[in-house]
Amino acid sequence: MLVAPSILSADFGHLAEDVRAICEGGCDLVHVDVMDGHFVPNLTIGPVVVEAVAKAATKPLDIHLMVQNNTFFVELFAPLKPGYISFHIEEEKHPHRLIQKIRSYGIKPAITLNPHTPPEAIEFLLEDLDMVLLMSVNPGFGGQSFIPSVIEKAKRLKAMIEKRNPDCLIEVDGGVNDKNVRELEAAGVDIVVAGSYVYKHPVSVEAAIASLK
Ligand code: DX5
Ligand code: ZN
Repeated sequence: MLVAPSILSADFGHLAEDVRAICEGGCDLVHVDVMDGHFVPNLTIGPVVVEAVAKAATKPLDIHLMVQNNTFFVELFAPLKPGYISFHIEEEKHPHRLIQKIRSYGIKPAITLNPHTPPEAIEFLLEDLDMVLLMSVNPGFGGQSFIPSVIEKAKRLKAMIEKRNPDCLIEVDGGVNDKNVRELEAAGVDIVVAGSYVYKHPVSVEAAIASLK
């Protein structure tokens, strides 16, 4: 299992230190939640802060856009050369065009699905994607409870991916811990995002990442 800790649960007073801790602690990606206060009822960080995160990180950034104007934000973050940029299908009229734009910057394109969105919504985009991100909470906040229906969705998506693009990864985000990670793995999930589980772990971020793996 690949692990992408979400820095939303980090201590923003010591952000560079907390980014270095997960990278040294064995994470695979650094998950960055960008919220605009419109698509979701919360507001997080923009390119100035994400640039500082990129400087501290020794693993690729996984930028999760939760915004209304996807193209604007893709152009804003592309110069930071993240590993992945994902955008929500619920907020994009021309997803195929945006996938191509993300790829034109040398960045891996990904699409995110809210808890209610069926995997069939992106069936005909799978061959152009490097990753699909399934939300297992409603986007906007860390520390929420895991929505179990994501397991069935991951299984259905995995079957579609095997048929259309076996290289496409499945990532799950929200309420992930050392208990539900087993079921996620069995459902075909490749990457888990974990915010509060990693940063609030009683032992260390390293122990948290190791337990998810
Ligand atoms: C929620 C974010 C998540 C969040 C996960 O909108 O997309 O990445 O930080 O936090 P936990 O793991 O605490 O649910
Ligand atoms: Zn996220």
